[in-house]
Amino acid sequence: MANPIISKIKNFKKSIKIPGDKSISHRSIIFGSIAKGRTEVTNFLTGEDCICTQKAFEALGVEIETYYGTPDNPTLRINGKGMLALQEPKEEIYLGNSGTGMRLLSGLFAGLPFEFKLTGDESLSSRPMKRVINPLTEMGASIDSQDGKAPLLIHGTNNLQGITYKSPIASAQVKSCLLLAGLNAEGVTTIIEPEKSRDHSERMLEYFGSPISHHSASLEVSIKKPEKDLFAQIIRVPGDISSAAFFMVAGAICENSELVLENVGINPTRTGILDVLTMMKVDFSVENISDEAREPRADIIVKSSNIKACEISSDLIPRLIDEIPVIAILAAQAEGTTVIKNAEELKVKESNRIATTVNMLKLLGVNVEETEDGMIIEGLAGKAFPGAKDSVNTIAIDSNGDHRIAMSSAIAGLHSEKGVEIIKSEFVNTSFPGFFEILRKEEAKI
Ligand code: S3P
Repeated sequence: MANPIISKIKNFKKSIKIPGDKSISHRSIIFGSIAKGRTEVTNFLTGEDCICTQKAFEALGVEIETYYGTPDNPTLRINGKGMLALQEPKEEIYLGNSGTGMRLLSGLFAGLPFEFKLTGDESLSSRPMKRVINPLTEMGASIDSQDGKAPLLIHGTNNLQGITYKSPIASAQVKSCLLLAGLNAEGVTTIIEPEKSRDHSERMLEYFGSPISHHSASLEVSIKKPEKDLFAQIIRVPGDISSAAFFMVAGAICENSELVLENVGINPTRTGILDVLTMMKVDFSVENISDEAREPRADIIVKSSNIKACEISSDLIPRLIDEIPVIAILAAQAEGTTVIKNAEELKVKESNRIATTVNMLKLLGVNVEETEDGMIIEGLAGKAFPGAKDSVNTIAIDSNGDHRIAMSSAIAGLHSEKGVEIIKSEFVNTSFPGFFEILRKEEAKI
């Protein structure tokens, strides 16, 4: 298929149904598979990452009925038979592009008495796994890796011991990995983070009836092995705020726009982007707030705005880590200079996102300086992206295999002089199938 080219849009007014949250979709399958009874998951994200997690549990003998027939509401019914019913997989488990899949499953699998081989694509095979291997080893796990990277060979055991782990990084993947290991460990497993990372695992564990102790304000969480199986639940997955972020930025930077983003998850550990919209004086509102399955959600309305620069740092970073590439597009349209710092974790995402975001901005014709832990972006004060000096035609941007770079570049195309061509656009399917179809229906000639 030809590469999509996104050109300037004159008028962008629309209601957009945002696909299900990726983090919550992964966790729905995991907890539904170890619980007893039928867990129903609606608005499940059918992105490739979550499908890999689904296939992993099917390989462990879990029966999962899927109803992808209604594109507006993909539904899973997971017929869980409890932790003890999980079986040894006959083949290796391929987790695609998904760091969440690999790190969370490592924690669960380390405490099951089977052998597992976990593999992934090129990007996943280059990402650091010692952050989970080291604490799991302290708990008594046995994991072979390629110098701290995938493939991982997990020699599972029934003899994990709870530990208190002071994590050097704020990572929900590390925290959730250890909580899952803690479900099968003797004694108490406690994780203490330097800053608060997303708490979907904690909320869902509680919802499924697990003995977990956590407080929304605290950096510490503890779990112990449940005396009986978790019980099945009903989960309507909220829209992914990380996917909604692309259209929040589109709404703010495009001319004559008003976008209504429906049913977006607004868990406070994920709403750093809304704090940034406020700091950057974006015209937006949050309406119809409700709460279901312990995850709050709302509609978010964003209009064309006069954007102002700001500083993004410290404990805000884990609350918007995945949104930084598209926040960089917003900052590039601001009046003034935006500084993003304390974001070194970006270097170990699906790509080195400090380097790939800076490269994207340079190709768009933005003055940007790469720093050790972030970037400094000189805003264009609303002027359409001109493209780098030597670019005559369309601006071509390679996703580098990173879905969020592909989508951020596409959003920039909506307010560009020459249009933006996305190379390796297929990676958007890891988290946002249907992304280009939303744009295709618009004037943005793609
Ligand atoms: C995720 C946690 C984040 C995030 C990733 C999804 C999760 O990673 O970047 O896209 O679902 O737990 P870290 O918390 O490890 O930084």
